[in-house]
This record gives sequence, structure tokens and C-alpha cells, in this order.
Amino acid sequence: MQTNNSNLILTTDFIQNNPVSGKVAWQSPSNLAIIKYWGKYGRQLPKNASISLTLDQAHTDTSVSYKLKSLPSEDIIVRFWFHDLRKPDFEARIVKFFDSIRDMFPFIAQLEFDIHSTNSFPHSSGIASSASGMSALALCLCSIEKALFDSLTDDAIFLQKASYVSRLGSGSACRSVYPYMASWGSHVEIDGSSDDYATPYLEDLNEVYKSFHDDILIVSATEKSVSSTAGHGLMNDNPYAEARYRQANNRMTLLLEALKIGDLEVFGKISEDEALTLHALMMCSDPSYMLVEPGTIQIINEIRAYRADTKVPVYFSLDAGPNIHLLYPHNYAAQVEDFRINQLMPLTTGQCIQDTVGLGSKPL
Ligand code: PMV
Repeated sequence: MQTNNSNLILTTDFIQNNPVSGKVAWQSPSNLAIIKYWGKYGRQLPKNASISLTLDQAHTDTSVSYKLKSLPSEDIIVRFWFHDLRKPDFEARIVKFFDSIRDMFPFIAQLEFDIHSTNSFPHSSGIASSASGMSALALCLCSIEKALFDSLTDDAIFLQKASYVSRLGSGSACRSVYPYMASWGSHVEIDGSSDDYATPYLEDLNEVYKSFHDDILIVSATEKSVSSTAGHGLMNDNPYAEARYRQANNRMTLLLEALKIGDLEVFGKISEDEALTLHALMMCSDPSYMLVEPGTIQIINEIRAYRADTKVPVYFSLDAGPNIHLLYPHNYAAQVEDFRINQLMPLTTGQCIQDTVGLGSKPL
């Protein structure tokens, strides 16, 4: 990835001869990691490789209008609206993010931006919006670069840069730009894998995963008590950290085979083991965090009992919070629907976001 982008400056000549304004818009989904990224180094680089399902229904739509600043300055000028409401706290976060990526997009300081964003999923629904939000924004910046400099014309290079920039905004966001599944982080068994950006995981992906379901059962919609930045930071002093990174890489090797041959048992086991490992790591950090709720554990027990009784391949995953991701293949959807409604929903707040694996980001 080319990070010296000193040519991406609007010259006086260009400015005099071209209208420097426009609007770009992207939709980008959230994602659910099966092998989790937990622990980072350097400039938002992962300590182990991760891989995720790209979601479909849970996404962010972002439009960015840009124009030349009326007076040149080094300041970053951004106005940000979320669901049509000006949001100063998000705005400050975006200014900080734009400031941190001037090296990639030097023209950022020559322009001013009006950004409008909406999420398809309710606020406090337990879905982290940083992956969809940051990737949608990064994709918009790449589109602005393309419009102004006629660069990034190759789609693969475009998405790779968008993934790189998304990563700088929120690590896991880099996986959201690709369809079905994407990996992030160097791993001997994944060709072209990199710590810098995600790689689409397509060629070896068994069809069964391309229509997989992920029903997000909301056990609690209250704010989580540890930010992911703080959580990653706690891994620096976690005595089990090195063993964990080795474990993640070994599990990745096993998972890749299961993704190829469609082995749902191995896929499901790894998914559950990774979810519990993530929470175990938080529980043994200093300070320790307990992000699961009693309802989370009740639902896990129900899922395991139902699977043992019926042999239906239904599994769970967790993000860094108490909500359950119920994972199953499409051909079991009707059976799982009954189970979910009758046995699991009473253990939730009554909210469930029914999602599936999706096609990744798209321009609007
Ligand atoms: O991208 P971040 O910094 O919000 O970290 C995400 C970490 C997990 O969601 C818990 C795991 C992952 O790989 O997505």
C-alpha cells in the first residue's frame, strides 16, 4: 500500500480550471468476527489474524459533500449529521480521524466537508456502529480521491485502500468492505494476507456460508463498560496474551479448512470457543471486565441443549458485549425460527435483528 501520497494535492492550476466540489455516498455493513481480533500494536495493527462474516441488514449509509475551502488553512473542517441531527461528539471524532490520515489524503486540508450518516439498525441495539460507519466514511474518501485525481480506477486497489483507511478509523472496519467473509492480519495460510488491510475470503469459501444467518438477540442494550480501544490495551499486560495470539492463528488454520469443505461442526465450535475466549480474556485482564449478563449464559445453555437434542447446526458468537449472535445455515431457518421465538426471545429484551451474510459495501 502506497502511503506517500504527496501527489494528492490540488494544484493552483487544477483549482483554476475545475469546479472543486461534489458529493459521494456509500453503504457499508457491519461484520461479525469468527476468529476475533483482540490486541493491537503500532498504528492500529492486529496482534493476530481475524476473519469475519460480512452482514447484510446492519449497515451505515454515508454521504459526503465536499467543496474547496473559501480560505486556505491547515484546519480540518467537517460538519456531521447523524439521522439529520448535528452530532458534535461524532464530529470531533471525525476531525481527529481526518487529521490522522492527512498523509494518505493530503487534499483533506484543502476541502471542507458536510457528512450525513444513517444506520439501518437502532442505536443501542448492541451492534457496534464503528465498523460500518468508519468503512462507509473511508469508502467516501476514496471516491473523492478518485473523482479529483482520477486515481484508484482499479476496483481491487480502490477497495484495498478503503480497507486500509477503514482500519485506521476502527480496526475491524477494514473487513466490512468485502462480500461474504474477509480476513485481516498476516497468516501463512491466507494468500495476500496483511496486517495493513483486509483480504476478501472468497475463492475457498463453501456456498453454505454465503447465505448464513446471524440473528442478533439483544440481551441488554445498555452501553458496554469498556471501549474496544481500552480492551485492546489491556491485552498488553494480559499474562495469557502470547498464548492467545498463537491459539488464534492455530484456530484460523482449522477454520479455513472448515470454510472450504463446509464443516459446520468445526465452524460452530470455533465460533463459540472464540466468543468465550474473548470474554475470558476480558475477565482475566487488569482491571477485569464482565460483559456477559445472566441472560447471555441462559441463552448459550439453551442453544447447546437444543443442538444436542435436535442435531440442528445452530451456534452462537458474541461481540464485546452481552448480546448473542445466533448462527445457522439457511436451510435450517424455519426450524431455528421456532426455537428462537419460543425458547430464546423470552430471555431477551424482546429485540432481535435478523441478519444474514451480505454482499459488502456498495456505492449509493
Ligand atoms: O475494531 P475494534 O477496535 O472496535 O475492535 C473490535 C474487536 C471485536 O469486535 C471484539 C473483534 C473483532 O475482530 O471484530
